[in-house]
Amino acid sequence: DHLINILAIESSCDDTAAAVLSNGKILSNIVATQEVHKQYGGVVPELASRAHQQNIVPVIHQALEMANIDKKDLSAIAFTRGPGLMGSLLVGTSFAKSLAMGLEIPLIEVNHMQAHILAHFIEEEGFDKPEFPFLAMTISGGHTQIVKVSDYFDMEVIGETLDDAVGEAFDKSAKILGLPYPGGPLIDKYAREGDPKAFQFTKPKVDDLNFSFSGFKTAVLYFIQKKTKEDPEFVEKNLKDICASIQYTIIGILMDKMKKAVKKTGIIQVAIGGGVSANSGIRQALVDAEKKWGWKCFIPKFEYTTDNAAMIGIAGYHKYLQKDFADFSVTAQSRYKI
Ligand code: KG4
Repeated sequence: DHLINILAIESSCDDTAAAVLSNGKILSNIVATQEVHKQYGGVVPELASRAHQQNIVPVIHQALEMANIDKKDLSAIAFTRGPGLMGSLLVGTSFAKSLAMGLEIPLIEVNHMQAHILAHFIEEEGFDKPEFPFLAMTISGGHTQIVKVSDYFDMEVIGETLDDAVGEAFDKSAKILGLPYPGGPLIDKYAREGDPKAFQFTKPKVDDLNFSFSGFKTAVLYFIQKKTKEDPEFVEKNLKDICASIQYTIIGILMDKMKKAVKKTGIIQVAIGGGVSANSGIRQALVDAEKKWGWKCFIPKFEYTTDNAAMIGIAGYHKYLQKDFADFSVTAQSRYKI
């Protein structure tokens, strides 16, 4: 049998990534993170596309080299079609099209959000794969969704944020506390040594399985403003307790909806993905849920939770098996539904 070798390219936001997979096994997984955005406190789209232009060839070379695969042995090129920043997506899309055309091999378009979920199917020692159907919660700086996954490419969004993503709730809260961007990991770090019940923040009331985080951010802002008026050193003195309380509230919001989703669907397999799944609070909450409620939870390896090309590759591999190839007229989609 001949091997199915796939080169996967991801360029939807501020990471330029390439991976090579052979029969669904990851041979290389390279990410070039763009440091240029740090000084601006967020991703600057124009700078992101320029950096992708600079990074894409070296990153792909590195991925092929590390995998020890020659271009002419590739079976297909998979790439992120969307959702994401248009300028960023265009770099990967155009590159993937040209390369597949030059090599005369199939082109496979991948939905970035589906790929975050399909990352759970990457072969990895010590990590179980979920069985269909399962529930997936994608939590990142750009997304907050609960998805019912019935098959590899049969997914239904059953809940999502109506405004900010959960990662933004972390990052904006951190900014209010004077912490540098992205503040999510720092809140997590301080929260570990703080009292989660020291301060109370009310949870937003949102119908069904949807989320809202813009009110939460405002609640944190008003709380901090009021407290600093009373004591200018309030944040300094209580940083750990404030972070623990913020994290406790955010995780509570996520888990309340997950519980509701489990109840509604009767599905007890729960998988998470996206940058925020690195958070120690959500990881612990899922471990507790296994013990308390008998859920079976799936937490991916850290490098597959943030933006990466390995997940684009595994999605591409399953499309390859289904002979689901893209037309060469395919275009990038900044908004692209699951
Ligand atoms: O998936 P990702 O790398 O890319 C975006 O979609 O932007 O997610 C990044 C987000 C940021 O908001 C970051 O603050 C958050 O994930 N994040 C965390 C943690 N690690 C990353 N939030 C809370 N706790 C963490 N440990």
